[in-house]
Amino acid sequence: MKQINEIKCTFLSLSQNEGLARSIVSGFLLPLDPDVEELADLRCAVSEAVTNCIVHAYRNEVGKISLTLRAYENRTFKMIIADKGCGIANVAEARKPMFTTLPDEDRCGMGFSIMESFSDKLDVKSKVGKGTRVTLTKKLSAVDNT
Ligand SMILES: Nc1ncnc2c1ncn2[C@@H]1O[C@H](COP(=O)(O)OP(=O)(O)OP(=O)(O)O)[C@@H](O)[C@H]1O
Ligand SMILES: [Mg+2]
Repeated sequence: MKQINEIKCTFLSLSQNEGLARSIVSGFLLPLDPDVEELADLRCAVSEAVTNCIVHAYRNEVGKISLTLRAYENRTFKMIIADKGCGIANVAEARKPMFTTLPDEDRCGMGFSIMESFSDKLDVKSKVGKGTRVTLTKKLSAVDNT
């Protein structure tokens, strides 16, 4: 699969950077002429992943979040969100709908389920004390020229 574009950036785990991440995803995808709904879904997915880094990974600290976006010739899009925060002890459990470790803070445990529903494949790798890397893969629908 030939790569046609890539960006990598790093930003701090501050809530204002959630909007920034959404804008970066839009700016990266727009030249690929995405379907409006797909674009909205992927903006929402990055927002969920970045929020997780802010509220869970770096719970009582500010740390670095890295965002990598890649586009391939066949309209496959990859988005990697990585942190060096607390990590997840049981990834399979964390991915279950409605599982949250912060039930008292208005979290409903739906972030991973949302990311999964907006992707073709969602890979989550994590090590306690080392951090977490979420990789979302999505094949964009064909350009509608009608
Ligand atoms: N980057 C991360 N670092 C550490 N723990 C994480 C990270 N992302 C998710 N988690 C853990 O996985 C759980 C599930 O995450 P998920 O996004 O599905 O739900 P939530 O963040 O708790 O709630 P919601 O996303 O609905 O507000 C979290 O409660 C948290 O314990
Ligand atoms: Mg979440």
